[in-house]
Amino acid sequence: MSSDGVNTGRRRFLTAATSAVGVAGAVGIAVPFVGSWNPSAKAKAAGAPVKADIGKLEPGQMVVVEWRGKPVYVVHRTSEMIEGLPQLDDRLKDPASEISKQPAYISGEGRALRPEIFVAVGLCTHLGCAPKYRPEVGAADLGGDAWLGGFFCPCHGSKFDLAGRVYSGVPASANLEIPPYSYESDNVLVIGVDAEAA
Ligand code: FES
Repeated sequence: MSSDGVNTGRRRFLTAATSAVGVAGAVGIAVPFVGSWNPSAKAKAAGAPVKADIGKLEPGQMVVVEWRGKPVYVVHRTSEMIEGLPQLDDRLKDPASEISKQPAYISGEGRALRPEIFVAVGLCTHLGCAPKYRPEVGAADLGGDAWLGGFFCPCHGSKFDLAGRVYSGVPASANLEIPPYSYESDNVLVIGVDAEAA
């Protein structure tokens, strides 16, 4: 018997992860998701890095990769998405990410090594539900014209922008966590291995 909250969050994660298998499972080195990628218990305990092929990730799309038992969201941001980020600062709790939730080599409003690829742990910083990816600009239920796309946590209504920065006036107090990551090549993302210090 586990709590409903945990089950609900887990179910959401599984749903999102399953829908992403087609993209990440495209080549041998990519990481299929929950259930089909089974590193040894020892490797899991050691926090083994995982690789994801992002070569087929279309602009605007998101995939979910499991790392250390957590969902990691990988979003291919469009140029419009990137350009919208500076417009949001006055609506965010921590626009400059002063509360550290990211490796030292991640900086700027985009919070990413490459502006077009956003990588974050997909767990709400309030109580750990899985926020939904809501890229639709102007979504009526998320603020209409003021909404430039981002993530919405259905548990208690926290909102994050497309760099995982938390909005003001919601229960979560910190930005989404950015995991350590790097690139093995243009198309292969490695989660769990730090990038070279810039
Ligand atoms: S867990 Fe996301 S708002 Fe509470």
